[in-house]
Amino acid sequence: MKTSTTKPSLDRIIEHSHQTLKRFLGEYVTAIDMTIGNGFDTLFLAKSCKKVYGFDIQEAALMTTRNRLNETGLNNIELILDCHSNFKHYVKEPFRVVVFNLGYLPTSDKTVTTLSQTTLNALRGVLEVIEPGGIIAITVYPGHLEGAIEARDIEAFVKTLPSQAFTVLKYQIMNRHKAPYNIYINKH
Ligand SMILES: C[S@@+](CC[C@H](N)C(=O)[O-])C[C@H]1O[C@@H](n2cnc3c(N)ncnc32)[C@H](O)[C@@H]1O
Repeated sequence: MKTSTTKPSLDRIIEHSHQTLKRFLGEYVTAIDMTIGNGFDTLFLAKSCKKVYGFDIQEAALMTTRNRLNETGLNNIELILDCHSNFKHYVKEPFRVVVFNLGYLPTSDKTVTTLSQTTLNALRGVLEVIEPGGIIAITVYPGHLEGAIEARDIEAFVKTLPSQAFTVLKYQIMNRHKAPYNIYINKH
């Protein structure tokens, strides 16, 4: 009898986010990356949609991402040096996919991290205007202090969203203390 040598496994956190987002992306879809960082999420989105708006408050994040993009030849990305809570000043067209990969850049200044209040401001704004059928993927990192506060506040908020209008899901490793996890919000 033949046996398989590959061991199947569950998706890791970012993998799960990308796999989930895939079904919402497409050639007519506009997406927003709320935290560019090293540009991995931006690049992933740009490969499968019409246009991506990316936000970060660190010039270094924009530079790293710009270099990464130059290597790919993709030209459907607008990188914006501003807080994501100001996204409405820049995004004037309908959008259907939003990614918040929160926290700080592991390779950079760890004090430059996303904060509960501005993240929630951005999230509230997104929920008002995202297209029906849209998806928001949020990765939270409760392993550091600000991340734990942010995770707590986001969870408290998303639990209050009316289930007739939004489906809210969580993908979390249950046997690893303070592991990062994903929250998904699908607008009906
Ligand atoms: C975990 S990293 C993002 C990882 C990134 N998506 C990637 O694929 O590499 C978080 C990023 O959020 C940025 N950030 C922190 N506060 C922000 C804010 N208010 N608005 C936009 N970006 C912010 C940080 O500068 C950092 O680059």
